[in-house]
Amino acid sequence: MASPRPRPGILEITPYVGGKAKTASGKPVAKLSSNESPLGPSPKAVAAYQATAAELHRYPEGSSAALRREIGRRFNLDPDLVVCGAGSDELISLLVRAYAGPGDEVLYSRHGFLMYPLAALAAGAHPVAAPERQLTADVDALLARVTSRTRLVFLANPNNPTGSYLPAAELARLHAGLPPDVILVIDAAYAEYAEAAADYASGIELARNAPNAVMLRTFSKLFGLAALRLGWMTAAPEIVDTVNRVRGPFNVSLPAQAAGVAALEDVEHLERARAHNQRWLPWLTAELQALGLTVHPSLGNFVLIDFPDQPGRDAAAANAFLEAEGIIPRQIAAYGLPHSLRLSIGLQEENRRVVAALAEFVRG
Ligand SMILES: Cc1ncc(COP(=O)(O)O)c(C=O)c1O
Repeated sequence: MASPRPRPGILEITPYVGGKAKTASGKPVAKLSSNESPLGPSPKAVAAYQATAAELHRYPEGSSAALRREIGRRFNLDPDLVVCGAGSDELISLLVRAYAGPGDEVLYSRHGFLMYPLAALAAGAHPVAAPERQLTADVDALLARVTSRTRLVFLANPNNPTGSYLPAAELARLHAGLPPDVILVIDAAYAEYAEAAADYASGIELARNAPNAVMLRTFSKLFGLAALRLGWMTAAPEIVDTVNRVRGPFNVSLPAQAAGVAALEDVEHLERARAHNQRWLPWLTAELQALGLTVHPSLGNFVLIDFPDQPGRDAAAANAFLEAEGIIPRQIAAYGLPHSLRLSIGLQEENRRVVAALAEFVRG
């Protein structure tokens, strides 16, 4: 008997699995699996969120106008060239759905953010992975894989889960090497952390000036609003118009819009969160390296740690050991990195627990 069948590509999708939030250890949990902000959201954002409780029976303003205005003010952008989404994940899907379908290719780098190939498959398009060099996107390898079928190139800068980045000049070279009908999507989810590096560029200038570049941002990391699902993008008017045609009319909830505006205004809180990361990222990196572990340089709010490929000493064993201590890292075999774990920067006490636990693990 005939049965309903999804479109080709859909059954190739292995659904995205988010970071774990619980362990069986009974110990206090340090959830370091999802690159969230350890300081949480601005109290002002929480108050703004709570203040929407009386309005929950009303549809939100569909274009997130007040939030786009605030983003425009803060980033010196025309609010008409900003689109808000239910997380940057939604915007990734909308961009792929609008520009790629069966027979088209979506290019990304081998250890790039997992949502890019998943969104491509969901749209019936073909994800193409370009090899990296030392866990870093390789501009020449990406450009070599552009074909007449390529519609979009996704680059997380800095990248999750590797923490690596392309300097501004390399980003410009990647864009300059693309045909004009191929869109470069620069996913700057961790831009606020990365801006400390002198040669870093978020891609906002490319998105402002080029007809085929998009910059994506999120409220899930520095802003501490992951639960509300809020992200935004900016691009040329034609791309913005296209995405607005495919997005749901009320895709961002009222509480998310309200909290987003308040979060942007609380510059002090953002600076605290950024300073926390600037202090603890180098500390954690150095402490773990001192244990003899390979820790990759990161411009995000997380580190990538390599473990030896030996039973009992490998990433799976380290993961089990940490979980028994109540510490939850992220296993990243789905990214092609089975011998590594990703650990988000936590609160001071959590970071110290990580080092103490891994010291014990390394000692055996
Ligand atoms: C590079 C990158 N892009 C996008 C996202 C998704 O962010 P959002 O919560 O806004 O959907 C993440 C989340 O981990 C990420 O690491």
